[in-house]
Amino acid sequence: MSKRESIIEKGDNIFKTENNQERQRLLLQQNLLYDFDMQIYSKYLDKNKPLNILDLGCNDGNTSLRRFANYSIKQYVGLDIIEQKQTDKKNISLYQVDLEDDNLDQFIEKIMRDKNIDGFDVINALALFAHIKNPSVMLSKIKRFCKKDALIFVRNIDDGFNICYGSKMVEKGLKFLDKTKFTGFRYSGRQIPKILYSAGITNVKLEKTGISTLELDKIERNALFHTIFDFIKNSLDKENSLKIISVQNERRKEWLKHNFEKLEKDFMRDDFFLHFGFMFYVGRL
Ligand SMILES: C[S@@+](CC[C@H](N)C(=O)[O-])C[C@H]1O[C@@H](n2cnc3c(N)ncnc32)[C@H](O)[C@@H]1O
Repeated sequence: MSKRESIIEKGDNIFKTENNQERQRLLLQQNLLYDFDMQIYSKYLDKNKPLNILDLGCNDGNTSLRRFANYSIKQYVGLDIIEQKQTDKKNISLYQVDLEDDNLDQFIEKIMRDKNIDGFDVINALALFAHIKNPSVMLSKIKRFCKKDALIFVRNIDDGFNICYGSKMVEKGLKFLDKTKFTGFRYSGRQIPKILYSAGITNVKLEKTGISTLELDKIERNALFHTIFDFIKNSLDKENSLKIISVQNERRKEWLKHNFEKLEKDFMRDDFFLHFGFMFYVGRL
């Protein structure tokens, strides 16, 4: 996909709770990126300061709640378009909402009243912006609910930072990321400074440009393989099940199915190298 689109316009959401395949893959990605993310959270957050956290595109909340587990959570509010189950913890609430909805600000205002939240200290948006059509509009609405000096954490993908060497086959497979309808806009990482700037957030640092196979042990390297190639496979399967798959993607689906084991073998070789473009920015309001 070469341009930014909203997942709703594509008619379905690959991230729905009942989609077990995608749920398992997200879990793998969450675990793989735990240390990667924590290096940044620990640099910016104070363990003793109670935090009001607004988590955008929280899915079931697990990724973020694991990352904030060692911090003092005053209130955690998770928002996602998928259906949500409430937790029994008073300081953790999850809501179903479309972040691109015109009435998003009213929705958040009501939550803040209900939960007695005077302002957010942290806005968290992990792997979200690739799926949102107009993230700066969403952020402009949200910004006014933040405290002075609030932090915004944004992790997003940019395939421009993908550097692959040592397997022509993996190189070919990686190009499919850009071709499916459910893998999001794959070049959104580079747009984050402008998106934040348009929303009035000008104090922004780029903390990471990606993860490389060199820093991973065998288990993590295998998780990275599945994070990437299961995502392509799940997305092509979703297109197929919705009967919106193109002839080219039908071919890609077959190629992937036929070569999946070979791809994994190449990926796991010691002399194979990949730098994969997970970008992490931190902004201060
Ligand atoms: C790749 S997942 C990331 C989930 C979680 N932040 C993580 O890192 O594990 C993207 C999430 O954004 C949600 N999402 C996409 N578009 C959305 C929208 N318009 N409004 C609310 N949530 C949305 C999806 O439902 C999905 O849960």
